[in-house]
Amino acid sequence: MFDRPIETPVSQTEQPLTSADATPSGHAAPAEATRVSLRKYERIAPVYDLLDAVYERSWKGRLREHAFAGLSGRVLDAGAGTGCNIPYYPADADVLAADLSPGMLARAERRAQRLGRPVAFRETDLTATGFADDTFDAAAATYVFCVIPEEVQRAALAEMTRICKPGAEIRILDYTQSKKPLVKAWSRVMTPWLNFAFSARYTAGYERYAQEVGLETIDSRFLIGDVVKLLTLRVPEK
Ligand SMILES: C[S@@+](CC[C@H](N)C(=O)[O-])C[C@H]1O[C@@H](n2cnc3c(N)ncnc32)[C@H](O)[C@@H]1O
Repeated sequence: MFDRPIETPVSQTEQPLTSADATPSGHAAPAEATRVSLRKYERIAPVYDLLDAVYERSWKGRLREHAFAGLSGRVLDAGAGTGCNIPYYPADADVLAADLSPGMLARAERRAQRLGRPVAFRETDLTATGFADDTFDAAAATYVFCVIPEEVQRAALAEMTRICKPGAEIRILDYTQSKKPLVKAWSRVMTPWLNFAFSARYTAGYERYAQEVGLETIDSRFLIGDVVKLLTLRVPEK
């Protein structure tokens, strides 16, 4: 189902991305924590867009363009879900949308068809993607690290570093834990729902793990209060 190549070549020297760029036979079995995420997203895939509609329309949607603006070449949409980022993919980018959940990806594929946007799809675990070293020129992950369990966040960031070229930008658009007492209290109230509905939390440690795996921080800015942040990282020279 996810084997269609991208129709628009990225450059004259590089072939467009296809699912064949991954070697799934090399995958390790996903960690139990990752299997929990997979089960959750397989269950909620049919209603995900409905569950998220209020957030998407009120603030999430308008932040997405920041995650993709200006990216070019081979771009990874890491944890693409139902494809809400597709309208914001730069026109000249060769994007591969990857996700753990086939149910979520099937919806992303339908969205790409509706929008007439050529996209390659790959069902994979971000902690062990099977892509070759230096496959991507850039990567973006929107509202994904709030879901990836703490014990495998470092592995996911190390894997993204490995499959992106030296100098590539990795952008993470995600929740952070507010330091303001009132907002913090509100996020504590919301956490049980966020966790129940999406297996997500406000406290994911991705920023610290990004430093641990050697990613350089180019920019870090809040887009909503001190709760939603866009982190722009760079893959170091090897
Ligand atoms: C909250 S949704 C966000 C989806 C999309 N990025 C968006 O902005 O709408 C989180 C997505 O991350 C995916 N995900 C969670 N853990 C993953 C992993 N280890 N590898 C790949 N995808 C993962 C889930 O399947 C789900 O589709």
